[in-house]
Amino acid sequence: MGMDMGEMTWNRKLLDYPITWQTAHERKGFDFTQITPEQGKLIQSRFHNWYTADWDFALTTVYFFCAAIGVAALFRWGSWALHRRSAVPRSRASAFDRLVAILSYTTSRVWRFKVFGNYYTPPLAAIIAIGAMFIWVMALMLGPKPFYYPNPVMGHSPPIATRTGWMSIGIMPFMIAFASKTNYVALLTRTSHERLQVFHRWSALLMYMTSLVHTFPFIVRDINEGMMEMNWATDRFYWTGVAALVPQTWLLAMSWGFIRNRYYEFFKKMHFIAASIFMAALFCHVNFFLTSWHYFWATLALYGTVWVYRVVRATLTPGTAIVSVLEDRTLHIRIAVPNSFRWAAGQHVFVRFLFGPLHWASSHPFTIANVPAVGEPNGAGLQQIELVLRARYGITKALEKAAAKGKTCISVFVDGPYGHVGLASDLRRFDRVLFLAGGSGASFTIPLLIDLERNRSSRPADATTRFVVAVREGGAFTWLERQMKPLNDLETIGVAQSTHVTRQKVEEIDPEKGDSKSDDNFGSLQNGRPNIYELVRELCEEPGRVAVVACGPDEFAHDVRSAVAAEQLSLALGRGVASEVFLHVENYSW
Ligand SMILES: Cc1cc2nc3c(=O)[nH]c(=O)nc-3n(C[C@H](O)[C@H](O)[C@H](O)COP(=O)(O)OP(=O)(O)OC[C@H]3O[C@@H](n4cnc5c(N)ncnc54)[C@H](O)[C@@H]3O)c2cc1C
Ligand SMILES: NC(=O)c1ccc[n+]([C@@H]2O[C@H](COP(=O)([O-])OP(=O)(O)OC[C@H]3O[C@@H](n4cnc5c(N)ncnc54)[C@H](OP(=O)(O)O)[C@@H]3O)[C@@H](O)[C@H]2O)c1
Repeated sequence: MGMDMGEMTWNRKLLDYPITWQTAHERKGFDFTQITPEQGKLIQSRFHNWYTADWDFALTTVYFFCAAIGVAALFRWGSWALHRRSAVPRSRASAFDRLVAILSYTTSRVWRFKVFGNYYTPPLAAIIAIGAMFIWVMALMLGPKPFYYPNPVMGHSPPIATRTGWMSIGIMPFMIAFASKTNYVALLTRTSHERLQVFHRWSALLMYMTSLVHTFPFIVRDINEGMMEMNWATDRFYWTGVAALVPQTWLLAMSWGFIRNRYYEFFKKMHFIAASIFMAALFCHVNFFLTSWHYFWATLALYGTVWVYRVVRATLTPGTAIVSVLEDRTLHIRIAVPNSFRWAAGQHVFVRFLFGPLHWASSHPFTIANVPAVGEPNGAGLQQIELVLRARYGITKALEKAAAKGKTCISVFVDGPYGHVGLASDLRRFDRVLFLAGGSGASFTIPLLIDLERNRSSRPADATTRFVVAVREGGAFTWLERQMKPLNDLETIGVAQSTHVTRQKVEEIDPEKGDSKSDDNFGSLQNGRPNIYELVRELCEEPGRVAVVACGPDEFAHDVRSAVAAEQLSLALGRGVASEVFLHVENYSW
């Protein structure tokens, strides 16, 4: 490197002093005589001027995200409002119905890649949105030329490095906003937080890409000029940049599905630690240049307010979970919560079990398997929420083991409710609703079925409902029956139920053939998997508006999505019989 390290003054300051909120956008004291008039013009023009790069690149990135969220909000709220007005069934699909069908198709359609160990893509709409994000980032990154200054006097930072640095900063508040549980973007777009996780991941990847393109031009240039060692020792931007890039690389590498899903607890704890180091290092790295810190304040506001809200809300909802172990790897949990706790059928909560040395540090999402009681609140000021858990390998296994040893009362904090608050009431406008559940996914569909039957008077007069559930073994009947009990108190009209047992032979029951069983609550009982494609096709064979609501394992959800997407495409192409095919598939991992 041709430099004696002894001559260097090590610079390990975190920030330059004096600290200010931002630096000026004016170029002062620059010697224009050393560059040509064209070069002078270039470095003062839009998208080339270092002193306005925050406005040109970071702010432009912000505008792009705001516009995309605005379009999504307009579509989601617009179609909701228009559907409310046109709830009357039509015998033929209108042009509006066909437009909605094609848009709905994009939100339903997913693909499975068996070669990658059954990898399921996000829905087409998310792929399009991510594609748009990618094209936008590439255009802004590679559009303005040159990438390097032809004359080093024009500036220290290569233009491609400057712009990508600012683009990273512009992406940051959105990347964080997509991740939170109480979520401003979800509120604006009338959706639920878990559906935005895919955007959190992909915007993080784009931010990483722009961060790398920001870093390498400096390294290449410094190595070529023999300045690397010197700059590393004396320029704080170098080591604060590396201090940010290392945790950022970790965050990306550890978030791949197979690591995240296999070691979720470890992933989550490390994610928060690495993210905190990353944000702190990046904060120092940008060093209040131009308006860089404004983006940190925005991020803090977006994340901090919802975090405080969540913590306060969860702290105000302590409780005791009463755990019972049922057959078929199932746990049933009852938690007493204050009467002020309000939820809608189909919503979920995050439960923090104050139990064991590590479990208290994370909370887990579970669907509320019961519906709110009707009538006056009880005098004790408390009500019950119920959860049905499939025992797996982490907290659920630990709870199962503890219950087996007699520890059935566990202190908890309940954070929520979360999820699509309007789903239960939205379903009331449909002529036919098909519920499809795989295993414990029924804890999501049962409350929605009960809610629908309770609100029979708000539905079209001849509305019908079909409820299909697939379970591995007959042991599941115990909890299914328990959760469906409220249906016994209702006068159910037009409800057809069928239960499929897939890994055990049971005696089949077909009420249409006059079979009956005194203690059954499940309609027909069949061996083998339900044929999802056939069920969806049958649903769409008659005129009217239909809805499919599903929850189950990945393969189950994939088949439901594919079957519904095919019907929506037919409708969009003018070949459909039903005038609307609505789909809601509840995610259970992200
Ligand atoms: C909105 C929603 C509602 C859910 N409702 C239910 C329900 O009613 N009943 C039920 O049995 N399961 C439900 N799940 C799934 C459930 O949260 C996880 O299976 C559970 O956290 C697993 O706990 P575990 O530690 O035993 O899992 P592990 O065996 O350690 O992990 C199993 C899988 O669960 C996922 N997971 C684990 N911990 C979390 C977490 N804190 N947040 C998100 N995902 C996690 C991971 O993808 C992992 O692959 C729901 C999930 C979501 C997202
Ligand atoms: N709101 C939520 O997000 C929520 C709520 C509750 C539960 N969950 C999650 O839902 C998942 C359910 O898992 P589980 O362990 O409870 O399920 P499980 O016991 O494995 O049961 C799944 C059932 O669905 C059947 N099935 C699977 N794919 C199918 C397909 N393509 N067509 C027809 N039937 C199919 C299975 O048949 P085979 O036996 O032939 O495989 C099995 O009977 C869990 O991961 C749970 O965490 C999520």
